[in-house]
Amino acid sequence: MNTQKTMEDIVAFAKRKGFVFQGSEIYGGAAGLYDFGPHGVELLNNIKASWWKTNVHDKQQYYGLDSAMFKDPRVWEASGHVGGFSDPLAECRTCNTRIRVDKELERIGVHADEKMSEGDINALFTQHKASISCPKCGGHDFTDARAFNLLVKSNLGDFTSKGDNPVYLPGEACQGIYLNYKNVVDSMHPSIPFGIAQIGKAFRNEISPRNFLFRTREFEQADTQYFVRPHENKDAYETIKKDRWQWYLSLGIDESHLRWKQHENLVFYASDAWDIEYDFPTYGFDEVEGIHDRTDYDLTQHTKYSGTDLSYNDNGEKFIPWILETSMGLGRVFLAVLSEAYDVDELGGEARTVLRLPGHVAPVKVAVFPLVKNKPELVEKARGVYSELKKHISTVAWDDNGNVGKRYRRQDEIGTPYCVTIDYDTLESDTVTVRDRDTGEQIRMPIAELASYIAENIK
Ligand code: GAP
Repeated sequence: MNTQKTMEDIVAFAKRKGFVFQGSEIYGGAAGLYDFGPHGVELLNNIKASWWKTNVHDKQQYYGLDSAMFKDPRVWEASGHVGGFSDPLAECRTCNTRIRVDKELERIGVHADEKMSEGDINALFTQHKASISCPKCGGHDFTDARAFNLLVKSNLGDFTSKGDNPVYLPGEACQGIYLNYKNVVDSMHPSIPFGIAQIGKAFRNEISPRNFLFRTREFEQADTQYFVRPHENKDAYETIKKDRWQWYLSLGIDESHLRWKQHENLVFYASDAWDIEYDFPTYGFDEVEGIHDRTDYDLTQHTKYSGTDLSYNDNGEKFIPWILETSMGLGRVFLAVLSEAYDVDELGGEARTVLRLPGHVAPVKVAVFPLVKNKPELVEKARGVYSELKKHISTVAWDDNGNVGKRYRRQDEIGTPYCVTIDYDTLESDTVTVRDRDTGEQIRMPIAELASYIAENIK
């Protein structure tokens, strides 16, 4: 038996099993903000570690970075966020709910995106208004679309020495990479082409945050920026696209649940842009990562606004490098991994919920059970196995509550690949049973081989 997955099931499961909680829940909940619980933060950190390994440690000529969130406000003028990028919004005249016009048009099959001019989007909106319903009251009477800036304002002392200028929370994490491109060149002396990778927070005043972790107001992005010589972008772009696709497969995502989507309306400076989309339960295919060929736009803009020359000097030949960007939303990838792994099947004649996570991202790698908890010699032996495993494996759980079958079910639900039971035979032979999450099969093995067996199988 395999039930149909719905996002409703996954949202409820994520809360029940300590993966994701609504932000500020005890105060009634904050729209578009989520907190990662004890199992969620382990899964999230494991996804980040896998991304970092693939994009920094396993690569040559890629450098890691962690830049400050607050930046000189001029950064967001140079990037185009202050004057430019904004969402086309309209308000329902009946209940004042605001909608994103580009998204609503897309939903009814009319091609539109946030990069179109206000005039163009309003022309389309007027033509199709009758087919768009207000998500709250169902009405069709909307104002015209207006551009709404997404940057979240803050303040920070006398940042610009002009006193009351706002600073902004980062609208996208990648700007920290452009700001440090020169520092990396001057300190690490990379020969071109080379990359810089960073995981960082981003904040957007999304007017209609929705779909759980999919569209939130605070989120994390994992970005790489690959610096190439002008016009030497095409081959590298194809290689990067292939690499990124493979990484999703390494997270246990079935290839049939992924697809490419090329942008039809490119921003004026971009030469190509593709999204990787995942087939989310209930929501369907939508973007998890963008791969953008950004030409020399970013470094040219920051050269202009900062007055600092950001050209690369290759043995006397100076040029502004072109940039190939990969930008992934960690919340969306987390949701894709959770959705993919979530399953309800039947084992030993009983229905069970199981998270079929690959071992390297599972929040708990192995759980240790004494067969019963009222036999001190069994508990002591199991404690010894638990402590020894903890020296070698990142996350080891202890469970002595209820019968072993129930303990297996609890671990299956959070995706623990292995459960180890210490029984009476252990006291005689120093062997334990190791039970596999996916098959339910058990093997007996010497305690001495346990840590290496598990480490090998969760790689
Ligand atoms: N630097 C390029 C950039 O920020 P983007 O397409 O706006 O490009 C990149 O964002 C990724 O960030 C998206 O593919 C998506 O996964 C994630 N993302 C964007 N807005 C988001 C939001 N409101 N909530 C969650 N994730 C978001």
